[in-house]
Amino acid sequence: MSGKQQILRSEVILEKYAKSLAGKTILITGISNDSIAGELAVQLATANPKLLILSARAESKVTGVTEKIKSINPNVATRYLNMDLSDLAAVRRAVDDIADVPTIDHLVCVAGVMTPPYGKTKDGIEQQLAVNYLANFLLIKLLLPKVQAAGPSSSVVVMASSAVRVGKMNFDDYNFSDGATYDPMAAYGQSNAARVMFIKKLGEKLKAQQIRAFSVDPGAVMTGLQRYCPPEFEQQVAEWKKAGPMVDMDGNSFEIPPWTTTSEGAATVITGMIDPTIAGYSGSFLNQNAVADNELHSHITDEGNWKQLWDLSEKLTQEKFTL
Ligand SMILES: NC(=O)c1ccc[n+]([C@@H]2O[C@H](COP(=O)([O-])OP(=O)(O)OC[C@H]3O[C@@H](n4cnc5c(N)ncnc54)[C@H](OP(=O)(O)O)[C@@H]3O)[C@@H](O)[C@H]2O)c1
Repeated sequence: MSGKQQILRSEVILEKYAKSLAGKTILITGISNDSIAGELAVQLATANPKLLILSARAESKVTGVTEKIKSINPNVATRYLNMDLSDLAAVRRAVDDIADVPTIDHLVCVAGVMTPPYGKTKDGIEQQLAVNYLANFLLIKLLLPKVQAAGPSSSVVVMASSAVRVGKMNFDDYNFSDGATYDPMAAYGQSNAARVMFIKKLGEKLKAQQIRAFSVDPGAVMTGLQRYCPPEFEQQVAEWKKAGPMVDMDGNSFEIPPWTTTSEGAATVITGMIDPTIAGYSGSFLNQNAVADNELHSHITDEGNWKQLWDLSEKLTQEKFTL
């Protein structure tokens, strides 16, 4: 295993492992011009996949990325998939829209939102938990047969965040008392805790099938994600860094990641998809292109919590996810 954490550009990972992407079908959520997913799609296009299914909630978000892909590698087919992750019915419709696609080699769930004002989705779920996590649970449940049909070494990769270090699932009140106790960062942390715990359980269940499942901390990248942050956010982060390490929920210290480029942000996702040296670590949390389960606090590594989350997610999506 490449155990050493390193911030690397996507190009470096692709130089080593791109061959395995040739002819593959890849679905990516969260596409826009300046997003990590947009960069990921452009990077992957250099590796000659057969089809890139580019998902966003408006086609205008995808056009610039499609144009870049065409200019880099006109042989790669692209297809827009409309999907609003804040609506479970829309996730189901999107799955129906790609019924004609027989196999998905890599299902990459990157879309997300950070610290918006309080809101609940149509389905009655706090929106960060709904968009960042619950929609992925449903999407992956519904598309897994296509990933399984692609065979061993196919992957499910879900974006997470260093916010998992300070995040936990509040099973008794995941909706923050309908907003009365809403803390935007605690909710972002909760949604990332859910992402990582779900992948832990999924990875365990998929191990025998040799399907890869990883959650990923992409580091820190200036993108559309900071749209709800105050103007002084960058300054605030610089001050937190100056004050020294932060502490996670077990009291262990950790550093706030340095700002990097979108190529560096997308690199660990590509590591999750194809780095053969981590194939045996399915279910793991990745940071800086390496397995980083040692960074997870005890709420996240508690298998009882994985099961409780799985059961809750089945209830909220009204979808039994048996494997
Ligand atoms: N950037 C960072 O420093 C950082 C650090 C840690 C983790 N992450 C994670 O990385 C992921 C990608 O973030 P990013 O930095 O690339 O941010 P971004 O530029 O804001 O991209 C996020 C994408 O998700 C889409 N999205 C948001 N809500 C959606 C919904 N309801 N339905 C469908 N799509 C939706 C956004 O589309 P719209 O424009 O339509 O909203 C956007 O294209 C997120 O999951 C985030 O949690 C990022």
